[in-house]
This record gives sequence, C-alpha cells and structure tokens, in this order.
Amino acid sequence: MDIKKSEFVISSPTVGKCPADNKPEYAFIGRSNVGKSSLINMLCNHKGLAKTSATPGKTLLINHFIINNEWYLVDLPGYGFAKRSKTVQKKLEQMISSYILQRKQLVNVFVLIDVRHEQQKIDREFVDWLGESNVPFTIVFTKADKLTPGKAKQNAAQWLDRLKDRWETLPPYYITSSEKKQGREELLNYIEEINNT
Ligand code: GTP
Ligand code: MG
Repeated sequence: MDIKKSEFVISSPTVGKCPADNKPEYAFIGRSNVGKSSLINMLCNHKGLAKTSATPGKTLLINHFIINNEWYLVDLPGYGFAKRSKTVQKKLEQMISSYILQRKQLVNVFVLIDVRHEQQKIDREFVDWLGESNVPFTIVFTKADKLTPGKAKQNAAQWLDRLKDRWETLPPYYITSSEKKQGREELLNYIEEINNT
C-alpha cells in the first residue's frame, strides 16, 4: 500500500473529543521513548508529522492523523514514564485505557517494544490486559538498527516466548527500525489487509 497523503487532524484530551466520523483507526502505544511517533512518521514518509523527542514523555494527548483520506493512525502518550507525577500518570493511564476500551473505530493496537531490552513488567502487564480485554493487538519491535539483525531476531523471539506461559496463541509481530525504514512495507501491507477485510 502506498501512503499518498498524511495529515494531522486533532489532538484530543479524552476519547469523547476524538473525531466523530467512522473511519477505521490504528493506534500506537508503548513505553515512553520507545519510538511511537517516529514509527508513524516513518510509515507516512513524513518527517515532523508526529512530534518526536529524545526526552521521554513528549506525546501527552490522543493524536489523530488521517491517511489517504480513508483511515487514521493514532499516536498515544507513552506509559510507564517514572519521572511523571502520580497524578499525571494516573490521568494518562485513564485516557489510554478509556480510548482503547471505548473507541469503536479502533481496529488494531500496535504495541511497541524496544527490541534491545528484556521483557519489562509494565509491557507484560499491558499486553496481558489487552488480551484479557479482547483487544486485537500486534507487537512491533523498534530500534532494530541498534542491534545486528540476528540479535534483534533472537531478542524478539525470546520476548514472545515469555508470553507462552499465559497465552496459547502468540500475537503477530514485526521487527522495525524507523531510522532505516525497516518493516515499513510489511506493516503497511498488514494494515491494508485488515482494511480490506
Ligand atoms: P513519547 O511520545 O515520549 O512516549 O515517545 P515516543 O514513543 O513517541 O518516541 P519518539 O518517536 O519520540 O522517539 C524517541 C527517541 O527514540 C527519539 O530520540 C528518536 O529519534 C529515537 N528513535 C525512535 N525510533 C528509532 C529507531 O528506529 N532507531 C533509532 N536508532 N532511534 C529511534
Ligand atoms: Mg511520541
């Protein structure tokens, strides 16, 4: 699939304020600084579309981007950023969970995982919560350019393997690098396939 047009639409503080139309949408979630906004820019071939930063905690609202006038990519704030106050953290968690559970247009959640690190408790809990809530999700390993291809593959396999004690079927996954545009075609084809079913 080719992305011909990508535009920022709106930043919303609550699920109730999100766009009212019925176009399908795909949301990107994961720990702060994992590369959600960078991945959206990479997929759209559009630098600066979603705001990125070397400092964690950049994205604080639900951001809608309209693609080819047909569907949305949604950039969400990161979870698990220790330097936030408890109050802000709670508010963000509330925003993220009500968006995920209540947004009818949400077709699939992409959970981003930094391919360099061992499975973190917060990611495991988040993925378990999605599974228990019957929310369709896909794992996207990020920053693969920071490892050799072999090591990235091995880490991804180990990460998924650790879901096996709780989940019979493992989620689909992709290994990506926004820096090197790795995984772009595969992810866009995957979204296209879902859009066409
Ligand atoms: P929050 O909005 O704060 O939750 O962060 P985010 O998940 O949107 O991360 P963002 O895209 O802002 O990227 C965080 C940092 O990681 C930036 O310095 C990016 O340049 C860097 N980064 C993102 N993706 C990649 C990648 O594929 N490879 C490398 N080497 N760096 C990356
Ligand atoms: Mg961001």
